[in-house]
Amino acid sequence: MFFKQLATKEASLSYFFGCAGQGKAVAVDVVAGDEDWFIAEAERAQVRITHVIDTHVHADHYSGGPELARRVGAPYCLHESDRGRVQFDFTPLADDQVIEVGNVQIRVLHTPGHTPDSLCLLVTDLRREAAPWFRADRRYPVRQRHRPAGSRRPGTGNGWHALRQPARQILNCPMRSRSAPGHQAGSVCGAGLSGKPSSTLGFEKRWNPALALDKAAFVDALTRDIPPRPAEMDAMVRANLGLAA
Ligand SMILES: [Fe+2]
Repeated sequence: MFFKQLATKEASLSYFFGCAGQGKAVAVDVVAGDEDWFIAEAERAQVRITHVIDTHVHADHYSGGPELARRVGAPYCLHESDRGRVQFDFTPLADDQVIEVGNVQIRVLHTPGHTPDSLCLLVTDLRREAAPWFRADRRYPVRQRHRPAGSRRPGTGNGWHALRQPARQILNCPMRSRSAPGHQAGSVCGAGLSGKPSSTLGFEKRWNPALALDKAAFVDALTRDIPPRPAEMDAMVRANLGLAA
């Protein structure tokens, strides 16, 4: 298995990984303008891009996912809840769906919280062991700067449970599982994000203060001092949904 992380100009993190032996790879959270990087990396590794996945409809950058998918002839994938919301064809992914990419296995987890359509991808290198690394685009350990339309305020209705249930699925992974987040410090998608672009589940369980909070403290931490929405956010969301400017 190979695994590459690309830090983007918006402080989001993109991923390119796959099975070199069987010549297959997946591109995740591609930013518009970075498509050539993925194509060059695929050529260098002599792999075919079989899936292009966005972990949610992004609000902090223009997605390059649909364009890369078109150029390499791969399906562009989003969570199935985006059907009817996204105005162009995409391949819907369901919770617990497994995607085989040669000797790399991806288990899709629907993890609403950051946005209602958020996904985490549990990635396992079957050549090494049956337990996953994981690639998450989760936000529960940090405060959100924006709540995209349709997301709930944590602590209201099912919002709290919507955050906690997916967290439990991830926290049950092995402690050595590696976390590869969707954003790092500097992103408008979160406040208090670390500048270290990866972690392990064991480290986060031991040191992430948000994981030790009870419900009231968690809701307070998540909703206190939310900065204003970024100026370009509405235009980015509209573009990523395929709506007219
Ligand atoms: Fe986001």
